[in-house]
Amino acid sequence: MIPTAIDTAAAIDWYRRNRVRSAAIFDLIEPAAYYSRPISLRNPIVFYEGHLPAFSVLAFVRRGLGRPGVDARLEKLFERGIDPDSETSAVPRSGAATVWPSRDEVLSFARACDDAVVEGMMDLAGAPEAIEGLYTALEHEAMHQETLLYMWHRIPYSQKLPASSQEIRRSGGIDSKENSVSPELLSSCKEIAAGTAKLGASRSETVFGWDNEFDAHDVHVPAFDVDVLPVTNAQFLEFITTGGYANRVLWDDEGWEWITRERVTHPAFWISRHPTPDTRDPQWQWRGMFAPLPLPPDWPVYVSHAEASAYARWKGRRLMTEAEFHRAAEGATPGHADFAGFEPIPVGAHPETASVYGVHDLIGNGWEWTSTVFAPFQGFTPMRSYPEYSADFFDGRHYVLKGASPATAKELIRPSFRNWFRGTYPYVYAKFRTAGQ
Ligand SMILES: [Fe+2]
Repeated sequence: MIPTAIDTAAAIDWYRRNRVRSAAIFDLIEPAAYYSRPISLRNPIVFYEGHLPAFSVLAFVRRGLGRPGVDARLEKLFERGIDPDSETSAVPRSGAATVWPSRDEVLSFARACDDAVVEGMMDLAGAPEAIEGLYTALEHEAMHQETLLYMWHRIPYSQKLPASSQEIRRSGGIDSKENSVSPELLSSCKEIAAGTAKLGASRSETVFGWDNEFDAHDVHVPAFDVDVLPVTNAQFLEFITTGGYANRVLWDDEGWEWITRERVTHPAFWISRHPTPDTRDPQWQWRGMFAPLPLPPDWPVYVSHAEASAYARWKGRRLMTEAEFHRAAEGATPGHADFAGFEPIPVGAHPETASVYGVHDLIGNGWEWTSTVFAPFQGFTPMRSYPEYSADFFDGRHYVLKGASPATAKELIRPSFRNWFRGTYPYVYAKFRTAGQ
């Protein structure tokens, strides 16, 4: 990586904006829920409020600048979260026995971290490791904001404070865009001619990228066809009513084992309401951030990779590969992203962002699952500021996601950015569409 220049004022501004948004996100939660764990495999909420500034000190101040930290004990406590994707290592690093600090103590630690980070930015000499550490800190916080928001989707409504939500919701949100999409578009595909996909980022041309983005390389992609729009809730409902979750042949072994063990019968973003005990067909609701909503038929369905793959198999189709996504997304621009709202919007609501092939909603409205197993590109080297960022996940059980969700910061939206999750992790803002040869 050859970072050359950094605008100190812009970096400080980004750091401040990050901190303000993080504070607004924590303000969405009732203080009484501060020590709870909304997702059992993850740390309690208190951890994250300390983790964000502690990590910035670790990556930038300590590893990047080679300076001392601010509080060795708290930096250790807040250093690293639980891998939400690895159930086999689900022993919490900070277990039930951990005594967490009071919120006042966390906030005063955070202020000390902020001071150290901003002071470090003031006299950045431009050393590559300092700049890498700085971007690592900045992008890490932005990524966590999305993680926090999807965790918040799991918290009981009584523990959330919607009054604070305006702080992170930009004006013009999306709830106003309830236009419905044409049925023809919902069932149409586009042919993508054979060609070259450009994956990854070039070290000589990039100021910062995560280790898994390097190196840049070309991949030949045979011709394929792909849905114009992501699969919607209404389309996925058909999969459910025709017995998709009970049909063994649609699931791979891991997915089947998961839905059987956890008794999964619908997407994690859906709530089933049985009107009366003897009614067999549930009425479905969407698990909105602040209230359940009648299931919006035109929103993309948010599901795990296992559910997406089962649906595609049911249709006699498959998911796109990472390289195919790059082909299909040529010329696409960001749509419903960068904290534009807490929920998705109807598919196809931003036609101006479609790719040159006329494929919609590729960058926004939910990450897009691919069939590609997360693995290093040729030339991968773990980064100094965060060596375990990617390397811990090259286990053949994580899949690449591309694009962006409504809660993905604009700074993270670039063609080379790669997200990844375990195939059976259902809490992410992740959609999919089907492809064929
Ligand atoms: Fe983290």
